[in-house]
Amino acid sequence: MIVGQSTDRLDGRLKVTGRARYAAEVKPPNMVHAVLVQSTVAAGNVAGIDATAAQTMPGVLRIITSANAEKLNLTGAKVLQSMLQNNDIFYNGQHVAIVVAVTLQQAQAAASRVRVRYTPTHAATMMDAALNQATLPTNFRDGKVEPDTRTGNPQAAMATAPVRIEQTYTTPIEHHNPMEAHATIASWDRDRLTVWTATQGISGAQESLASLFGLAKANVVVICPFVGGGFGCKGQTWPPTALAAMAARSVNRPVKLEVTRQQMFTSNGYRPRTVQSLKLAANQDGKLLAVQHDSLTQTSRPEVGEFAEPSGLAARMLYACPNIATSHRVVGINQGLPTFMRGPGEASGMFALESAMDELAVQLRMDPLALRLANYASEDATSGKPYASKGLRECYAKGAAAFGWQKRDAAPGSMRDGRVLIGLGMATATYPTVRMAASAQVRMMPDGTVLVRSGTQDIGTGTYTIMAQIAADELGLPLGRVRVELGDSRLPPAPISGGSMTTASVLPAVHAAAIQLRHRLLTLALAQAPAAWGTPAVKDLRLQDGLIVGPGGQVSAGDVVARQNVPFIDATVDIAPNAASKDFSCHAFGAQFAEVRIDPDLRTVKISRWVGAYDCGRVINPQTARSQLIGGIVFGIGMALMEETRVDAATGRTINANISEYLVPVNADIPVIETIFVEAPDLVTTELGVKGIGELPMVGVAAAIANAIYHATGTRVRDLPIRLDNLLA
Ligand code: MOS
Repeated sequence: MIVGQSTDRLDGRLKVTGRARYAAEVKPPNMVHAVLVQSTVAAGNVAGIDATAAQTMPGVLRIITSANAEKLNLTGAKVLQSMLQNNDIFYNGQHVAIVVAVTLQQAQAAASRVRVRYTPTHAATMMDAALNQATLPTNFRDGKVEPDTRTGNPQAAMATAPVRIEQTYTTPIEHHNPMEAHATIASWDRDRLTVWTATQGISGAQESLASLFGLAKANVVVICPFVGGGFGCKGQTWPPTALAAMAARSVNRPVKLEVTRQQMFTSNGYRPRTVQSLKLAANQDGKLLAVQHDSLTQTSRPEVGEFAEPSGLAARMLYACPNIATSHRVVGINQGLPTFMRGPGEASGMFALESAMDELAVQLRMDPLALRLANYASEDATSGKPYASKGLRECYAKGAAAFGWQKRDAAPGSMRDGRVLIGLGMATATYPTVRMAASAQVRMMPDGTVLVRSGTQDIGTGTYTIMAQIAADELGLPLGRVRVELGDSRLPPAPISGGSMTTASVLPAVHAAAIQLRHRLLTLALAQAPAAWGTPAVKDLRLQDGLIVGPGGQVSAGDVVARQNVPFIDATVDIAPNAASKDFSCHAFGAQFAEVRIDPDLRTVKISRWVGAYDCGRVINPQTARSQLIGGIVFGIGMALMEETRVDAATGRTINANISEYLVPVNADIPVIETIFVEAPDLVTTELGVKGIGELPMVGVAAAIANAIYHATGTRVRDLPIRLDNLLA
């Protein structure tokens, strides 16, 4: 079996040798460059644009403003502004013009000479000043999930409960900051559009562009074989992608529009700030009597669009409790549209819930892990559905054992190494297991190699590699004889690589296609078989090391194809999610254990140890899976201690729109990380038993750190990120 074994990434060599070609590196003949001009006010409208000086500068081909921009069809678009369709301004950084020139430098120089006059109006730039204007989200989770839920009567239970916690937790605006910035190269051939673009969803990009430009889907080709990280900000089609296509059409040449690092803070979403109220009530023995999680999150003005961070979803299902209420409200302000960011909802919401659980444990004088176990849920408390699989108890046990949790002295400030304060904290992790319809094709070539094809994308996670692993096993081939093609919308379509669902969606399609192909090959082998084979049936044959082996002899699988005189034999499968999964609560789980070391005088926080045990279902490739786990934990450490986008209230402009002042962890910030797989297969969602793994490992990380910091210092910090000034008071 190749599935379940660690293997290097198939695309690893291409990446480390620089031969993997990312979107910004594509250079079609005649390509020219586009640069965005952005609003310097946060509300109002464009009174006029003077482009006369810019227009006459060297190399300038065209300056596009709302006055001459192509009209786009915005029906169904997620982002309704920033594509030069009108003069309204709703946030600082909104695009107001594009300059197209022969070279990038010419376009940049001309863009700096475009004079924009504004009629500014009052801008509400800060969420916290507008909390009283919170409203119900209009399209929460695309209308598929209720924004508010209530099971039992939390208020009544709260009123009589012996122990209560009521606190507010906040998480800041955060930006994804993948290493690869957004880039689009757009090229038109009459009414056919080809884009090379950095995206987590080529199918979605194809659909969005077709819709915006009024084209048949078949007339839009989206190509993206490599993605340098996404974390959610490449999930939907943001205005720069459309503007690249608009610019290319207007000059009738291929156009490259690469978003700058600074523009990564204005033009492709962010995790919105949240203000979360968490109320817990419990018996003296720690049994939860009520959970109430009310989330406020910022969104843009409705004219731009709406995104609601679903912070309260985990509280609905994580713990056994008869009385649970959750609510979500959005605060529309003059900021760009927020979007999904790794663990959207769970990452922010579980900071609040798992911090509150720690606070409850402190109040009960109970071990935080024992409190979780006392409330271990055997079914989803809100939906009442059984879990499709749940290995959380084992995650707690194995994680605690590896970490040495039992050596923890509960009293804050009681553990030291010399003068350094030591804090041990833990938290639970959970993330839904989602699967969507996907298709794939598997081909056997006459030379006996196999090509696996699907219109999915590998955002750095290992998709290429695990697709090959599944096909190799099913077709009895070593991994070296399997190639994978993905990242091209002309391939059989697959869903967005978001929501941790690529493995659970695409692998079943590859698996089913490989099974079909195997059957076809064996059937053909029988038809071609010499008399010496007798009359075996398909079931008497097997595929092994590229050979079809039967009782009477063997033949190379490639030769079977060659004898048919065809270039290849293939099978294509389009496969829908398992209908039975709607009767189950499908989740991955985990337990996070953090050790922090804090200087008692300077209050500097160092994460010194990490143990995480994760029930992420059946693991296809432990090596790439472990990389995902490490990446998620590092992302969570950034969230806990560093990441914060600061906005200037007066202008609505991001102050730290760069990666020297927007802090993210570096190697020196990261401890040795021990990860443990607890493989509780989810056989309801897929026959392969897989669950998503991309987002799970960052959920609960910030709470585990906040809890460890409390344990070390006795100071409870409820606002992220936690910096040393929070600990000096
Ligand atoms: Mo993920 S935030 O769904 O890319």
